Parts: sequence; C-alpha cells; structure tokens
Amino acid sequence: MIKKVAFMTGGGDCAGINSFIAAAVRHGIDKYNLEFVGIRKAFEGACSDQIEEHLVPLGLNEVKGLEIKPSTILESSRFNPFSEENTNKGFPQKLKANLKKLGIDAVLATGGNDTIKSCNGLHSLDFPVIAAPKSIDNDVSGTDIMLGYPTAVSFGAKAVRSTVESAITHRRISITEIMGRDAGWLALNIGIAGGADLILIPEKQTGLKTVCERVAKLYQQNKYVNIVVAEGFRIHPEDPVLKRVKEVNPVVKAMTEETLGVDTHGNPKLGGIGQILRRIIKEELGLKKIEDVRATDLGFTLRGLIPEADDVVLGTRFGVTAVDLLLSGESGKMVGIQGSKIVTVPFPEALIQKRVNWNDQDLQSVGVVF
Ligand code: F6P
Repeated sequence: MIKKVAFMTGGGDCAGINSFIAAAVRHGIDKYNLEFVGIRKAFEGACSDQIEEHLVPLGLNEVKGLEIKPSTILESSRFNPFSEENTNKGFPQKLKANLKKLGIDAVLATGGNDTIKSCNGLHSLDFPVIAAPKSIDNDVSGTDIMLGYPTAVSFGAKAVRSTVESAITHRRISITEIMGRDAGWLALNIGIAGGADLILIPEKQTGLKTVCERVAKLYQQNKYVNIVVAEGFRIHPEDPVLKRVKEVNPVVKAMTEETLGVDTHGNPKLGGIGQILRRIIKEELGLKKIEDVRATDLGFTLRGLIPEADDVVLGTRFGVTAVDLLLSGESGKMVGIQGSKIVTVPFPEALIQKRVNWNDQDLQSVGVVF
C-alpha cells in the first residue's frame, strides 16, 4: 500500500514543474491522506550517501502558492544512475535501497526523455513510479505538449517580436537562436508566433546558398529580415558556402570546428549557431558592417519563466492524474495530453523522440522550406 511518495525533478528546468508538485501534494493529501517528500537534485540526490540531506518537506503549507513559481523548488540534475558506468558501480541498487530506507513507497517524477528513461529503470527494479513530461523542447512522444513548452513559446514569441522591431528600425537582419536540441518544435512555434521570415530547424537541413539567397532577397525587398534558428540546426561540413567563409573568417572556422562534448546521457551540448550564421550571412551578402546582422540567443531565458496559465493548468491536471494513477496500482507510465484529454502512456512509447513531422507544403507556408 502506498503511503509515502517522493518527488524528483530531473533534466533542464522549466515553467510548470512546481504547478505539478503543488497539485499532486494537495490532491494526494486531500483524497488519500498521503505523505510527501521532495528529493533535491533528482537521481543524484536519491543515489547519494547523504540522501537525508537532500530531502525537502512537502506538506500543504509548503505548496501554498507554489503553482505559480518558476523552475523547480527541488533543484535538478542530469545524473544517470542507469548509465553503463553507474550500473557497474551499483547505483541502481543503491537508489532502490535508499528509497526503501526512507520508507518511500513510490516516486512521482517530472522529466524529459533522459529522466523518463531513468524512471523506466526504476520501474524495472519493481519500484512504483509515474512521470509527467516536462521540457521546453516538447520532444517526448504520446503527449501533444509538455510542461514548460506553452510558457516558453509565449515568451519566446514576444522576444522575437521585440528584436524584430529593433531590426526594422535599424534596417538589420535579426537572428534569434532557440533551444530544442534535436527537435525543432520550440523554434518552429516561436518562429511562427514571432512572425519569422525564415525558420531553420534540425529536421530540415537547408544548404547555406539557399538560405543566403533567400535572406538577400528579403533584405532587399523589406530592408530587414527576421530569422529564427534552432540550436540543433546543422550546417553540412562540406557545404561550399561554409568552406568559402571559413577561409576568410577565422571565427567561423573556430566555432564550426569546436566540439562542446556530450552530457551524462550522451546528448551533444549545443549552442552558437546564431553567431555562426551571423558571420556567414554578413560575408555572403557582402555587407559592410557586422552589426547589420544581429544575433540574439534566447537560451536560458526560456527556462526560468514564471508559468503562464496554460502551464499551471497542465501541471495541475498532470499532478492530479499522476497521483490517481499511482494509487490505482499503476507504475511505468507517463501522463500526457492529447487534444483536451489527459492520457497515460507506457514509458517505452513516450521515449520515442518526437520531432517535427509536418509535410513540406505546411513547412513552406511558415518559412521552414523555401
Ligand atoms: O532541457 C532541454 C534543453 O533545454 C535543451 O534544449 C538544451 O540543449 C539543454 O536543455 C541544455 O541544458 P543544460 O545546459 O542545462 O544541460
């Protein structure tokens, strides 16, 4: 029987995580008289020798007003107890033993692909766990949207509109770089809502000649251009324009040849494409001044946002359903939303990365294909 439930919040922070915690705690206490505790730094804290020092009390007082607070009160970590190295070190068993030692019967987690993968590991150790999807990347399957994504799109669109106002005034080309890893959802939707002329996403690799010709045409026509680029947009190393620009611009050469490494889950660390494109466009269009092309990286401004109403509602609905699922004896499942319905999805289905799958005609109508 489940009496005590622990929360863990892994991966990149975002809006809506605290809304999930607040709703789950209120519902769990009200309907099932549950006891809750938070574990700081997710699996890193849960696997620690000092797990007691990572505990955060979560009662009705602690969650008062919490639903509208940004990020996560439980901190976060990308520690992966189920990596080959950590499995060999015995971390999965330590994780389970630590949870048992504290009298914890089940886990509620928020996370993206990597955290859900770790939750699946915990589930396969026969420990009850339910997860809710969160990430501004919106790249988990089985759910239309994830916590943090609605607020990030809304703020990102306003930010793009603001940079483009300035670009119009100064007759400039504006490039805004947006996170999203290998999925272009965030850039696509911010780009559309932000009135972008061109949206460059990882799912559609476009040669630099095509990009620069389009930018040149729009610049001549409108005297400004609004470009949104996803951090995961890749330029082919053999792209002839890239090769040419690398010969005259040492910064482009250095930046395109730099490797930023991978995180604990093996994901490449990204960032910097906006600055690279800025220099390439300046060279290819033969512009005199580098300030004719400005690059803004929205990066982490989209992560620590105060949740807007859509995320508070989503977090609340996810929180309530997650508690009900756990108490009905379920484990190994993620809550999600399809249309307006809350659904449940087995972890393996959720773990298929969801990437932009629109057809070319639709992508053309919004400036991804040109
Ligand atoms: O959470 C996903 C994400 O926002 C990606 O879009 C980005 O590449 C990554 O996090 C960066 O996260 P961090 O630098 O915090 O590890």
